[in-house]
Amino acid sequence: MSVKHHLLLSSALLMTAFTYPAFAADTPVAPATPVTGAWQDAGQSPEARTAALLKVMTREEKLQMVFGYFSTDFKPKAYKRIEGGMADSAGYVPGIARLGIPAQSQTDAGVGVATQASPTPRLRTALPSGLATAATWNPEMAFAGGAMIGDEARRSGFNVQLAGGTNLMREPRNGRNFEYGGEDPLLAGVIVGHAIKGIQSNHVISTLKHFAFNDQETSRNYIEVKVDEAAGRQSDLLAFEFALETGNPGSVMCSYNRVNGPYACENDWLLNQVLKKDWGFKGFVMSDWGATHSTAYAANAGLDQQSGYPFDKSPYFKDALHEAVNNGQVSAARLDDMVGRILHAMFANGLFEHPLNGDQAATIDYAAHAKVTQADAEEGIVLLKNQGNLLPLAGTVKTIVLIGGHADVGVLSGGGSAQVYPYGAPANGLIIPNEGPEFFPGPMVFDPSSPLKELQGLTQAKITYIDGKDAKAAAKLAAGSDVAIVFATQWTGEGQDAIDLNLPNDQDALIKAVAGANKKTVVVLENGGPVVMPWLDKVPAVVNAWYPGTSGGAAIARVLTGAVNPSGHLPVSFPASIDQLPRTVVDGDRKDKAEHPHVDYTIEGAAIGYKWFEKKNLKPLFPFGFGLSYTTFAASDLAATAEAKGIKASLTLRNTGDRDGKAVAQVYVAAPSDAGWEAPKRLGAFHKVALKAGESQGVALTVDPRLLATYDTAAHAWKIKGGDYKVMTGTSYQDITATVTVHLADATWPATRP
Ligand code: BGC
Repeated sequence: MSVKHHLLLSSALLMTAFTYPAFAADTPVAPATPVTGAWQDAGQSPEARTAALLKVMTREEKLQMVFGYFSTDFKPKAYKRIEGGMADSAGYVPGIARLGIPAQSQTDAGVGVATQASPTPRLRTALPSGLATAATWNPEMAFAGGAMIGDEARRSGFNVQLAGGTNLMREPRNGRNFEYGGEDPLLAGVIVGHAIKGIQSNHVISTLKHFAFNDQETSRNYIEVKVDEAAGRQSDLLAFEFALETGNPGSVMCSYNRVNGPYACENDWLLNQVLKKDWGFKGFVMSDWGATHSTAYAANAGLDQQSGYPFDKSPYFKDALHEAVNNGQVSAARLDDMVGRILHAMFANGLFEHPLNGDQAATIDYAAHAKVTQADAEEGIVLLKNQGNLLPLAGTVKTIVLIGGHADVGVLSGGGSAQVYPYGAPANGLIIPNEGPEFFPGPMVFDPSSPLKELQGLTQAKITYIDGKDAKAAAKLAAGSDVAIVFATQWTGEGQDAIDLNLPNDQDALIKAVAGANKKTVVVLENGGPVVMPWLDKVPAVVNAWYPGTSGGAAIARVLTGAVNPSGHLPVSFPASIDQLPRTVVDGDRKDKAEHPHVDYTIEGAAIGYKWFEKKNLKPLFPFGFGLSYTTFAASDLAATAEAKGIKASLTLRNTGDRDGKAVAQVYVAAPSDAGWEAPKRLGAFHKVALKAGESQGVALTVDPRLLATYDTAAHAWKIKGGDYKVMTGTSYQDITATVTVHLADATWPATRP
């Protein structure tokens, strides 16, 4: 979110951008004599410490805790970042020295420590995109990545990481898909939950965002999502629920959009009923930057902290909240609850015991972190096609031409507030200047990890590079080389959705021309999300590398040469065409002029991604769960038993080839036809295992009861309809290799946790 451009994203914000008097951010409550008390005793529970601290706080001190500032200078409003916050960062909430309450120092996002647009950004390690990490199907990898960025956050002076993007991929054109965990509630929830856990292992609070149904960027600031409660509970909300249970984030960030009427940040159903009451969330809800719309209404609907002043129309949670508490519109008890939730998150994550020490970035172990991001990229890369075993590149290959994608110097990353300016780049963060939009969500940033150099280090072949702008010249070089590798890029970013699913800038034509000139053409995709491949039948090998992060070039080169055996599997289905989607045109208004745009999620309900394709008998280009390897695996001995509500399954995976590799046990479940499921199949459980050539391993898995149930809104309960359930394993949702049947009894349990 660059300051200039955040406002450009929303005409609503634009129209009201200048209603404040120009001011310098006000000063925090004056420090007074320090007081000590039971809240400083780390041996006590977060609840006890919170209660003790609330007793001694003044109303002014409490109010200070619930109001966050943007921590970047903002010229159009004559706003200077408040003293204490880190420069060019997302946010800051001053601490209270009198009571030893630390400040909240906030940075984006899910793939690393980001910087707002700045001539001198902080240069940090970038993980591969969220989709790439989801494609590992490996929660340990997600945890390690989270732990790495949490460490960099802390050493960069931050104790709140605005991470945990869990919005499901309802819309393959969504510009922020790269920040999220894909189309399946279980996979997305478990992977993102582990990333959150990793971040918080550094005594850094992580958010879970953007709650909820913020599944497209077009008109995001005010579009109204229509969704049935049951469908929502079985899809987007279930992903958040799994992530919350897995990661236990200190904070949840409510989103910009409206949900069935009210804005998400003043949505009693979402915040008070679902999140806090049903799921028992003990942390605090912070608004997205510019997503607060009222004072008493929002506070009473469950918003605990307004973020990123001055992005909202008004400083709702400042003087206006003070007045609302004084006159009883917001009760004193509710203010205590708001503050108590923030304190709880701080205590639970050790923020009092582990104070920040300003900018300690010089102590970051970038070499170790490069290995973390490389491992993640290597496991997330998905081999989509490998006809004739063109890959790994044979030792006999003498000449290779690399075409396009700036593969001589780096790999692509996604734009917007999540932008990590990469370690290893020049001071301005840009190894390639002037690419992409000048303003938000630009610039287009390439991570300095050169596929060309990395490949040169791994093969004896003579490798040349051509930028691919001239398709004819590229084809000519391809014709004279043993192998041609096209690096095709799809840049996406916050605040805008892709126009279509085609590769931009005539790259489809470039690939066709190259493939026409050389039968041994490999396409490496660096993409924010699914793309269509009109050239697929002409290209023998396709490697989906997503945005692979600051060691991405090395990861790609190692996959191409076989130093790494690819083990990524798609966390999203790739549609064959836009016509297959629930909405052929993205709803809303790209020019942001519509008064009250809607997006109708009742069309697909909970049938997102592969569930939609299967329900509608559509064949995607590549199915959810799909991914090839340089070895082969076989599953056997599938067995399943009914447990109290859930299912226990087991199977044996065997590496039947001659190379070590990693396989994913994918277990799908299907209900009897009268159970009312949204689609024929759901992913029920998964587990990744490393198998040496010839090795077998037994895998035990548990299917969560919610994945066997439907949500009954009237009863406010989950229900399993008794009957015969299929338990299946396969190499994608489409390619099922074994099925067993389990009888489940009727079961009902309340949505509200005991
Ligand atoms: C984004 C959030 C981000 C926040 C702070 C917003 O524009 O939607 O994901 O955390 O800005 O930069």
